[in-house]
Amino acid sequence: MIIITIDGPAGAGKSTIAKALARRLGISYLDTGAMYRALTFKALRHQINLEDEAALVDLAHQTTIDLQQDQEARLKVLLDGEDVSEEIRSLEVTNNTFYIARAPGVREIMVAWQREIGEHHAIVAEGRDVGTVVFPKATCKFYLDADFEERSRRRIQELKDKGKMVDETQLKEELQTRDHKDFTRQVGPLKKAEDAVVIDSTGLSIEDVAGKMMEYIQARKS
Ligand code: DC
Repeated sequence: MIIITIDGPAGAGKSTIAKALARRLGISYLDTGAMYRALTFKALRHQINLEDEAALVDLAHQTTIDLQQDQEARLKVLLDGEDVSEEIRSLEVTNNTFYIARAPGVREIMVAWQREIGEHHAIVAEGRDVGTVVFPKATCKFYLDADFEERSRRRIQELKDKGKMVDETQLKEELQTRDHKDFTRQVGPLKKAEDAVVIDSTGLSIEDVAGKMMEYIQARKS
């Protein structure tokens, strides 16, 4: 199975690029962050103590997360059969996902789910550890970066496009905090796989980045 991985920090453009690439290649798109978000949403809803790893592992064992795509490659996230695609993007979920992401027992379960998907589908997978931990033997690995200012600008624009009020200073602080947590996590931290191609998307369009990646993929396949 062809597996393309894209890791990188929040706001580097991974989701947009992964979707574009999956469309070009005619394969599926796997948003691993959506899985961490969905479990976070469930834990918050059930008022689970987010510091209690055993409780989080139990919760994960009692959960099914199904990722579906419609014709326009829009992602639908089904948590125990319920569509939570919108809810998992809330600020509350975003700012609490690190509790789920830092729990080794939970990551083990997530990684197993993701590998299971990769066994049966050709995919473009995006996240923080997809090239390093989940799919170390991926066909082609990318590490997508962008400078902090550009990543903040994109997040701000994204929220404004959705008609949301944005406190820009607060958003930057939160992004910085998420970066720190992503890079310093004990298990599955964000880091570049040794064999990943690094692409800096600062100042590049989606088409530019997807085009560059396609060149690498074609060279790899031939
Ligand atoms: O990519 P995202 O912002 O939707 O990810 C949500 C959170 O999940 C983020 O805080 C990091 C975490 N995550 C992770 O730990 N490992 C992954 N493979 C993907 C996301």
